[in-house]
Amino acid sequence: MTVPSFQPLQGMSDLAAPEIYLWQEVEETARRILALYHVGEVRTPILEPTGLFVRSLGEGTDVVQKEMYTFEDRGGRQVSLRPEGTAGVIRFLAGQGDEAAGARVYYLGPMFRAERPQAGRRRQFHQLGVELIGPPNPAQDVEAVAMQQHLLNAWGLHGARIEINTRGLPDEQDAVSAGIRRALEPDAGRLCEDCRRRLLTNVLRVLDCKQEGCRALVDKLPPVTDFMGQESRAYLEEVKRLLALMELPVEINPRLVRGLDYYLHTIWEIKHPALGAQDALSGGGRYRIEWEGAVVEGVGFAAGLERILTALQQEKGHPAGTAQGRPVAWIVSQGAGTLEQNLVLAQTLRRRGVPCGLALDGRSVKAQMRAANRSGAAFAVIRGELEREKGLVVLKNMKDGTQEELELPALLERLLLATRAEVAST
Ligand code: HAM
Repeated sequence: MTVPSFQPLQGMSDLAAPEIYLWQEVEETARRILALYHVGEVRTPILEPTGLFVRSLGEGTDVVQKEMYTFEDRGGRQVSLRPEGTAGVIRFLAGQGDEAAGARVYYLGPMFRAERPQAGRRRQFHQLGVELIGPPNPAQDVEAVAMQQHLLNAWGLHGARIEINTRGLPDEQDAVSAGIRRALEPDAGRLCEDCRRRLLTNVLRVLDCKQEGCRALVDKLPPVTDFMGQESRAYLEEVKRLLALMELPVEINPRLVRGLDYYLHTIWEIKHPALGAQDALSGGGRYRIEWEGAVVEGVGFAAGLERILTALQQEKGHPAGTAQGRPVAWIVSQGAGTLEQNLVLAQTLRRRGVPCGLALDGRSVKAQMRAANRSGAAFAVIRGELEREKGLVVLKNMKDGTQEELELPALLERLLLATRAEVAST
């Protein structure tokens, strides 16, 4: 016999009240801030050809090697749930030809990575991502970092740290890997088992290792810029100069690497102490992606919204969605004859913008008052046969228990005022 399960798949979540109000708040703030930067929304499909991710993120990356949900669709095509948003957006923009030059877009939605679930690491998670299209330009990189910082502050986060580094140019990658490998080899025996393997396969991943022993060795490594040419170093210096000009509080982390192959020049990661081992709130950088012969260059970032919410709850002790979603009035019907009259009243109030609730199942007045209480409504509007005959309603203040009789126009006025006060306080 199978046990009924109401749980979603492992590593995935149902999002509902009250947390959903915090999600909506974070999303609305993001849309408001991004409009200030003249960045418009784009929505691309969640399912894409697998080849898009393999080619843009890189064949050897962890995301492509181990984390994609890949399957054959009914037409025998290899498709994958998107593990990140940049590749799909670039596919879309590559198809726009010249019109994509200078495009500035954002996206907000679910991403999928079949990782081992742990705190802060989900199999379905949500990203808010931004992509600014344009050839390498330190000023554009700094604009993206500033935008990212503005978003964090607008969400109410102040404890985050921005770490910056450079990936250099694509043709310097081999020299960087060889240099880091040479520097690590004498201590190879002190690396963890995974890193001893990474030394041969993907040495830059050693720089991300969370094991104490490996971190101690990584801290002593020369900065990656030691293995890069003058152009990359000068680019980083210009980025640093502009960051200082903009008074952006960033730290240069000379050993920061990012796990996706499309990056070049500026890369960054934003960390928050509330997040434990999975401490990246957001990551980004400059990239160059080729798709179907079109080359798209740009700079962008994506923030993990689950992690943003965790950090917010920790920093602000955020009372997730207490006020929102709460009706201002709950209409209570006394006697079967008033029910349909109250259905009309509720509709009138809602059309005028007053959030209100009522029960339509003819339950007792006592049960309806309990429902009014549970809903968190500020007022109960009670209307029985007697009041109906007099053309009145009873308005009960749920907080102090006081009651008064009102005519309908006065009721509407009172509830509209209460609605405005509620909106102003959230
Ligand atoms: P990423 O660093 O792979 O970059 O992901 C960005 C953010 O998504 C992370 O900092 C983290 O907050 C969140 N995230 C990633 N994996 C998970 C997970 N399994 N569970 C919860 N949150 C997660 C990108 O995806 C790039 N596309 C960013 C970018 C845009 N670069 C240029 N443009």
